[in-house]
Amino acid sequence: MNKQTNFSKISGELNFSGDKSLSHRAAILAAIAEGTSTLENYLPAEDTMNTLKAFEAAGVKISGTPETGIEINSPGLSNICSEQIEINVGNSGTAARLLLGLFSGLDGCKVVMDGDKSLRKRPMGRVTTPLQAVGAEFEPMDKLPISIIGRKLLSIIHTENIGSAQVKSAIMLAAIASGVSLRLEEKKGSRSHTEKMLDFAGVSLMIEKTADGGRIIEMEPPYKVEPRDYKIWGDISSASFFIVLGLLAKEGELTIRDVLLNPYRDRFVDILQEMGGDIEVIKKDTRCGEKGGDIIVRPSKLHGIEIDPKDIPGLIDELPILSIAGAFSDGVFQYKNAGELRFKESDRIAAMIENLNRVGIPATELNDGLRIEGNPDTILNGGVKSQMDHRIAMSFEIANIISRSNGATEDISIDGKEWITTSFPDFYDKLKFVLQP
Ligand code: S3P
Repeated sequence: MNKQTNFSKISGELNFSGDKSLSHRAAILAAIAEGTSTLENYLPAEDTMNTLKAFEAAGVKISGTPETGIEINSPGLSNICSEQIEINVGNSGTAARLLLGLFSGLDGCKVVMDGDKSLRKRPMGRVTTPLQAVGAEFEPMDKLPISIIGRKLLSIIHTENIGSAQVKSAIMLAAIASGVSLRLEEKKGSRSHTEKMLDFAGVSLMIEKTADGGRIIEMEPPYKVEPRDYKIWGDISSASFFIVLGLLAKEGELTIRDVLLNPYRDRFVDILQEMGGDIEVIKKDTRCGEKGGDIIVRPSKLHGIEIDPKDIPGLIDELPILSIAGAFSDGVFQYKNAGELRFKESDRIAAMIENLNRVGIPATELNDGLRIEGNPDTILNGGVKSQMDHRIAMSFEIANIISRSNGATEDISIDGKEWITTSFPDFYDKLKFVLQP
């Protein structure tokens, strides 16, 4: 930030590039649908560009850019991946897991998948183990690089206990690639994008809610994924950093246009409202099976909250920035039973506690969670390490701005800001825009 930056006031209207989860899925469904599909507002981040590159390697023709619109011309699922390919999905856990599923069910397909040094540490066994049980072949099973030998799989009956949309989606894509029936019970409901987008692309699914908050998803072959024009809502998880900034600012108002409003993704908005946040949500139309709309945010006095464990799956990517909101709130902010956070781009429980303490915010570890003694007037000093995690770096950038608006004369140092481009390449441009005097 430059010397003229007014850290206390935010203003303006923001549009966000396409939601990351939706962008990956739109690329995948377009790439397996025979014919021409288009992608509007595709996320131009490293993670999602790597998904496109993977399909180019598999023989799908891709033209255009995220800025002008992308056209995908596919020879269809049974004609892709006809030669052995090597793909590198960089930092993206979603691309890795969804493509492990898809390619493992595609008979004759041979893929060596690798990722960056952060992704190489993350567990893939949660996807490969259930798929191995129905005939899939992976070597090794848990950590990238992994060789996949595509096979015609057996029909799949699986219970998903983690509450992971990546695991659920990988298994659904494997069933589609193999043309086999699927019955998947998820014990904890997770983001429903794959289901909604498959329905939009012409695949019928039967979905039943269970009494304990989970769902049963059933699909029967034959499957025909049709080509479509995908209009992708703005990324609600990227918007979350600006929503928290807008609430913690001292003056102004921020309007966020055209973001995804899926109930498994915008739960953090309810939590911020429960913390006292002045947030207005204006629902709009449906695009590619997903609802979206505008969000207006005004500065607010926030108070701490104890988050209900049953809300954790719907907040999983926003817990770091919610923790920053908690740090600048009155009273205690805490959550527990969020063990899944340890398997993200970093161990996000450990990373948050370590970094909060480094800059002077009292935070302690709970049972797979954390507790923060909030204080709206906090001034930070020192520095943090992103631990190769985009959301940790962005969370502390927002914390730094609030600290400056509270009177800090120096920025905290943030080591590893370069990881931000994996999901949000124009994060800093947007920050400058909303903070301009
Ligand atoms: C994602 C699912 C979540 C989330 C990730 C994106 C997806 O992971 O954390 O950023 O697009 O399916 P899990 O499904 O492993 O919880």
